[in-house]
Amino acid sequence: MFGAKKEVNKSRAWKRLENHYKSLRKLEMRDMFKKDPQRAERYNVSLESMVLDYSKNRINERTMKYLLTLAKECKLDERIKEMFAGDKINITEHRAVLHTALRNRSNTPVYVDGKDVMPEINAVLAKVRKFSEAVRLGEFKGHTGKKLTNIVNIGIGGSDLGPKMATEALKKYWGKDIKCYFISNIDGTACCEVLNEVDPETTLFIVSSKTFTTIETLTNARTCRKWLVDALGEPAVAKHFVAVSTNTKEVEKFGINPENMFEFWDFVGGRYSMWSAIGLSIAIAIGMDNFEKMLDGAHTMDLHFKNTEFSKNIPVILGLLGVWYNNFFGLKNYAVIPYDQYLTYLPAYLQQLDMESNGKFVSNNNEYVKYGTAPVLFGGAGTDVQHSFFQMIHQGTSIVPCDFIIPAISHNEVGDHHEILVANVLAQGEALMRGKTVKEAAEELKKAGKSKEEIDFLKKFKSFRGNRPSNTFVIKKVDPYALGMLVAMYEHKVFVEGVIWNIDSFDQMGVELGKQMALSILPELQSNASGVAHDSSTSGLIKLVKSLRK
Ligand code: F6P
Repeated sequence: MFGAKKEVNKSRAWKRLENHYKSLRKLEMRDMFKKDPQRAERYNVSLESMVLDYSKNRINERTMKYLLTLAKECKLDERIKEMFAGDKINITEHRAVLHTALRNRSNTPVYVDGKDVMPEINAVLAKVRKFSEAVRLGEFKGHTGKKLTNIVNIGIGGSDLGPKMATEALKKYWGKDIKCYFISNIDGTACCEVLNEVDPETTLFIVSSKTFTTIETLTNARTCRKWLVDALGEPAVAKHFVAVSTNTKEVEKFGINPENMFEFWDFVGGRYSMWSAIGLSIAIAIGMDNFEKMLDGAHTMDLHFKNTEFSKNIPVILGLLGVWYNNFFGLKNYAVIPYDQYLTYLPAYLQQLDMESNGKFVSNNNEYVKYGTAPVLFGGAGTDVQHSFFQMIHQGTSIVPCDFIIPAISHNEVGDHHEILVANVLAQGEALMRGKTVKEAAEELKKAGKSKEEIDFLKKFKSFRGNRPSNTFVIKKVDPYALGMLVAMYEHKVFVEGVIWNIDSFDQMGVELGKQMALSILPELQSNASGVAHDSSTSGLIKLVKSLRK
C-alpha cells in the first residue's frame, strides 16, 4: 500500500539517473541516429495498430535501464495491481480508483469493500444503452412529441472535457440528425450562445455533475431549466432533463426525477469519468455500439498496461520519459499536438488529466516534495499550432518535449491534404531532432546567393539547436476503439508519473481555495455587504467592477 517510504529523490536509482544525465546531456540525437541504424526499431513499441516511436528522445539503453530500475524501486508493479484491484489508493479521500472497471469488458469481478462493482456498472451501461437508443430512434420524445435532436451537456471539468473531446473526436460517427452542445463556463455567454441555437421542443439537457454541487453547473442548469419551463411549462422538465451524478439527493432537490438519473460512483474520479454515464452525450451522439467500442479500446490498453513487461509497456515508457525530462533535464513544459482536426480538444482534456492529477506538492509521506511534479501541458491541432507556438518550440530557450499523434488514414481524404498533413508532422519531429547548425545555415544562405555580410549576420538567426525530444504516435484512424486506447494510455501515463513522484494523483484539493474565496466575494458584488477583509488590490477591484456595473 501507499504510505511512508524513502522519498524517491533519495533513492539509489534516482541518484544514478542524476549522474547518468550529466554524461547524456552532451549527446546529440542526430549523432546517436547516425551511429545506430537500428535506433528507430530499438525505441519503438506497438499495441495492435497503434505504434509509438520514441526514438527521438534523449535517451540511450542505459537511460531506459536506469528508468526501469527506478520504476521497480518505486514498486510500480504493486501500485498497478492495487489500482486494478480496487484498493483505496486515493489516500486523502480514502477511495478506490476504478475507471478501469468502467471498461472492464472481460467482466471479471472487481471488489470494493468486499462487493463486486461490476453488476452495478453493467446495469448503468444497460440503462445508458436503453436511453441513448430510445433518444436516437425518437422513441423517447420531447414534451410536445418531437424527436430530441439537440443534446446539451451541462457540466464542467471532468463532467465536460471528456464528453466534449470525445464527441468532437468522433463527429464522423454522429447520428445523422443529432447535434451536441456543451455548456460549462459560468459566463452567461456560454449558456446564451447555446440556447440561441436550439429549440426547446427538440432539446435534451444532460446535467452532468459528480457532486451535483458545482456552482457553474447548477447555475447553468437552472438557467436552462427556466428557459425550458418558460417555453413549454413545468411538466416538460421530465422529458427534457436528465442527470448524471453520484448524488441522488441533490438531483432530486434540483427537480430531476431520480428515474431520469444515471448513477456513477465515488471510485470514479471526475477527470476519469467519460467511460461512465458521464459519457451519455457521447453514447447518444455516436450510438451505444460505438461507445462500447471506445470502452473496448480502453480495455485493450488497460490489459496491456497491467500485463506487459515494463520495457515494452507504452504508458510505462511514456511516464518514465516524463519523469526523465521533468526531474533530470528540469523541463517544466510538455506539448501534445494531434495532427487531426477531430482531436482538437484532446490537449484541453489532457490538461485536466495531467495537471489536476499530478499538480501536487505534498507526497504520500505527508511531506513537501523536493522535486518537480506535473509539467505545464499545452497543445493544439497541427498544423495550426506550427503557425503559433512552434517558433518557441524550435528556437526558444526552453526545451518542450512534444507528443505528435497522427492517424494514417483521414476521415476526410480530399486531394492531397492528408499527405501534406503527414509530411508536416514527420518534418516537425525530424527538424526538432536534427536541428540545423550555424554552419549548415551558412551553407544554405550561400547557396541562395546571399552576400558574405548577409550570411554572417543571418546564420545564427537561421540556425536550430535541435536535439529536442518528441514521441510520435501513429494510429490507423481516429475511430472509437483507437480513441479509447489513446485516452486510457494517457491516463496510465499520468498514473505512472504519480507513482514515481509518490503523490496522490486522484484528489484535487488545489481547486478549493479559489472556489471558497469566490463564495466570499459574491455577496459583496451582489449587495453592499462587506464580507471578509481582502487585500487592497482585491477590495479595489471589487469596488471598480461595482462602480462600472452601476
Ligand atoms: O475543478 C474541480 C472539479 O472537482 C473537477 O475535478 C471535476 O471534474 C469538476 O470540478 C466538476 O465536478 P462535478 O462533476 O462534481 O460537477
